[in-house]
Amino acid sequence: MRHPHRRVISPRIGRSLVAIATIAALPSAVAAQPALAAAPQAAPADAAYLNPRLPVSKRVDDLLDRMTLEEKVGQMTQAERGAIDGDRDQITELALGSVLSGGGSVPADNTPEGWADMVDAYQSKALATRLKIPLLYGIDSVHGHNNLVGATVFPHNIGMGATRNPGLVRRQQEITAKETRATGPQWVFGPCVCVVRDLRWGRAYEAYGEDPRLVIEMETGIEGFQGRHERDLKSPRHVLATAKHYAGDGDTVFGSSTTGDYTIDQGVTVTDRRTFAKVNVAPYVTAVKRHDVGSIMPSFSSVDWKEDGVGNPVKMHAHKELLTDVLKNKIGFDGFLISDWAAIQQIPGDYATQVRTSVNAGVDMFMEPYSAPQFIETLLAEVRAGRVKESRVDDAVSRILKAKFELGLFEKPYTDRRYAGTIGSPAHRAVARRAVAESQVLLKNSGRALPLRRNEEIYVAGTNADDIGNQAGGWTVTWQGESGDIIPGTTILEGIEQNSGNVTYSEDASAPMSGSDVGIVVVGETPYAEGVGDVGNGHTLNLSDADKANIDKVCGAIETCVVLDVAGRPQIVTDRLPKMDAFVMSWLPGSEGAGVSDVLFGKRPFKGRLPVSWPRSEDQEPVNIGDRNYDPLFPYGYGLRTRRGHHH
Ligand code: GLC
Repeated sequence: MRHPHRRVISPRIGRSLVAIATIAALPSAVAAQPALAAAPQAAPADAAYLNPRLPVSKRVDDLLDRMTLEEKVGQMTQAERGAIDGDRDQITELALGSVLSGGGSVPADNTPEGWADMVDAYQSKALATRLKIPLLYGIDSVHGHNNLVGATVFPHNIGMGATRNPGLVRRQQEITAKETRATGPQWVFGPCVCVVRDLRWGRAYEAYGEDPRLVIEMETGIEGFQGRHERDLKSPRHVLATAKHYAGDGDTVFGSSTTGDYTIDQGVTVTDRRTFAKVNVAPYVTAVKRHDVGSIMPSFSSVDWKEDGVGNPVKMHAHKELLTDVLKNKIGFDGFLISDWAAIQQIPGDYATQVRTSVNAGVDMFMEPYSAPQFIETLLAEVRAGRVKESRVDDAVSRILKAKFELGLFEKPYTDRRYAGTIGSPAHRAVARRAVAESQVLLKNSGRALPLRRNEEIYVAGTNADDIGNQAGGWTVTWQGESGDIIPGTTILEGIEQNSGNVTYSEDASAPMSGSDVGIVVVGETPYAEGVGDVGNGHTLNLSDADKANIDKVCGAIETCVVLDVAGRPQIVTDRLPKMDAFVMSWLPGSEGAGVSDVLFGKRPFKGRLPVSWPRSEDQEPVNIGDRNYDPLFPYGYGLRTRRGHHH
């Protein structure tokens, strides 16, 4: 506990802390302390906001009235767990509204119990504040509860887009919500409703596709997260969802990024208001009006209006017209806006300017991972200087409190662990396996190479045949993901071996191939996330040399050859396609690689369809359905179908 004379973040916080200390140690301390202005008292047990039978709006108003400015600003602040884990009392002292796990920010004990114990420990610190306002814990469950080892890991969104199955996406997110909430976090930073217009973007795989209508169709996932029809956020089966990143994150100009060595991620969307509304904002209209999404995350990227004469890009986190006038007032979003990771620090100007600009633009909660105290101090000063109205603070805090009441956190602040036993269960994995099968897109199948016959001698090669880390991709256990045996599940090779006893595996195709009836070459990408995966940032859409060599070797030696591409986006295969008898886009299947062999062997039919256009070359990007002289290698929506195969 801080001492009264030490400079605290602000006199008001120091006073209320001293007040708490004073109350606690009344007899001996009174004489020693200077007379204090009447510090705000803890709320009486019968305070309206503590009454679950009252309407949420009444509870919000009552609580807001009781809050000091420091407590309000604390609610608008979110810290990374790594910043407070060493001194958890900061949650109490700063009256923090939220803590997050950034990608890969996991407890030392990365088990369901380890997670729930950690989140509950943080929660107890929030409940030690004067008004006992519970904490929101946010996490990126973007293809399952992917930070937790042992969770069911689903295909990334681009593969789910290929399924064209909204009901399956809803089921996926119901499972993800259950596995997430049972370990503590009540809020997920998903789904990304980004519309990917250029595949050179490192986040292409986080999009359901290039057509906003397909993205909108897949927003059934929000109901999976929050509950169908009306939200049922009190349930341990549901979490608060976040539609992200508003807006135009997937529609920036290649080469326009000024973030680190990124080339396109966090760049500039050059557009006009009408096109922007149709392509980039439309998914948010559905997220708000049809699915009542609880929170929205603005994009790191900027927007530059053509009609105003380009050359004036404005950061989305500073964009009052789009955040407040359009999203909140016109579309009617009544949830809260959560900033992206220290994103306000990319706004031009000093920190006070960045804070003031983003708060006044309409951002409500601030993901300031390692600068929460500074954010609080700065915003308090801006309000006291009259540069941020307290009414704007009250609006932000009301939106945040509304979510906390709806999540039932005032009545049940601690983790409800009843579904922990379902995490990674066979039933959950079976749904993920079906999703993998339905996401597979058959792009070529000459000579009826597929489905495979069980008595065939099968030769399997390739860097991505037996690597569960590669098939899961980014946002898996760590932020960037990594190659290797990082999570439980089945690789594509293991799935093939489940269906055939005649399999020879040789990653680099160095083993003898004679006697093999069919060769399968699994090519693709290694994991990446965000701008790290941008083309030109050490990445390309072209196949690696090893992949090219494996295709040439296997398809040059074995009569029938099948190529699978395990990647977050289409790769350039134009020159090698003629050598392939069959070609399948497998995307990033996640933990249930066996789903791929379900369609290879005809246990399930191929029915996936491209959610993005497939370019002939890297510099053909961007190429999208609706373009004039549209000429991709494979068009948007393309996908061969097979009937349910017969077993030999
Ligand atoms: C990241 C991403 C965002 C994610 C957030 C928290 O930078 O842009 O999608 O939710 O930070 O991990």
